[in-house]
Amino acid sequence: MRVDRRWCILRSLLNGVVPTFNYLMSNSTATASAAANIALVKYWGKASIGNNQPATGSVSLGLEDLRTTTTLEYATGNQDTFDTELDDKARKRALSFLDRVRLNHQITQRLHMTTANNFPTGTGLASSASGFAALSLAFNALFNLKLAGSDLSRMARLGSGSAARSVYGGVVELIPSDDAYAIPIATAEEWPLDVIVAVTEERPKAIGSTEAMIQTANTSPFYRSWLSSHADDMTSAKQAITEKDFGKLADTSEHNCLKMHATMITSEPPIIYWQPATVEIMHEVRALRSSGTPAFFTIDAGAQVKIVCLPSATDTIRQQLKAITGLKRVIVTRLGGSPSVTTS
Ligand code: DP6
Repeated sequence: MRVDRRWCILRSLLNGVVPTFNYLMSNSTATASAAANIALVKYWGKASIGNNQPATGSVSLGLEDLRTTTTLEYATGNQDTFDTELDDKARKRALSFLDRVRLNHQITQRLHMTTANNFPTGTGLASSASGFAALSLAFNALFNLKLAGSDLSRMARLGSGSAARSVYGGVVELIPSDDAYAIPIATAEEWPLDVIVAVTEERPKAIGSTEAMIQTANTSPFYRSWLSSHADDMTSAKQAITEKDFGKLADTSEHNCLKMHATMITSEPPIIYWQPATVEIMHEVRALRSSGTPAFFTIDAGAQVKIVCLPSATDTIRQQLKAITGLKRVIVTRLGGSPSVTTS
């Protein structure tokens, strides 16, 4: 749907709104593509809930082929509208995000949004990360805000903490502060890695990460240890990335992932995302690594296992996974995920 921009600006003026200079320079439509990411050192717990201020830092890999594409244009009426079938929760989350960023930038224009993921959503595959990153990038481009990377990252964080990392591709660090934002720390070209996503559950997960994180922080006796041991994992992962030390990155990432799941499992009531196939794959990956295959696993708030490997090992791992009962399918992607934006 295309709407004449002059009409929209005139309507804003008639509504008594004085658009900013940038707003007058805005585009008619903006389309952004952002990739999902997987954290090797996890963000699990918030220092402040409303703003998604992470309690800890995190390090992630951008997944080149798991993407959300979002188009924003002016709505014709005085409500935000969607071309896409979003469930109630996702729609409310997108609406409150749009309200918030409009307020921050003194924009009143209502928007029409079209969005699509090229991977299954709500199953622990980081759709909120790519979703809010794409929405932030499209918003920035539509209104010609020209935000710096750090501010785009902060904007995306308001939608979802992990989205702060998806405004960049490659290896990204989210630095905790009272207005946290992410920075890119290595490009995909510097250390080409593959990620095999082993899908073990296609149904939506029983509890979303936001709620699970809060419940964990409030009830798990291990949450304090999670916080106090986190800085060492950050240092170790970043060192491993700088030195391209795969073994060190493998050990640090698996340990950090298992610590995070230990806090979930010991929350009240317990949060157990794993399926039998999840555990089987963890064993398989560890056995492969012991016998010299460069691979390690990580698991976010869901049942899917993400296997990070050197590209030379991808085919062997895929072959081995075929024996796992309960494996629904695999998605293979390389490290990457630089966002793209087009306007008209
Ligand atoms: C396990 O970013 O989805 O994937 O900020 O509440 O939207 P909200 O949470 P979200 O949590 C991600 C949790 C994780 C770890 C990670 O990506 O770092």
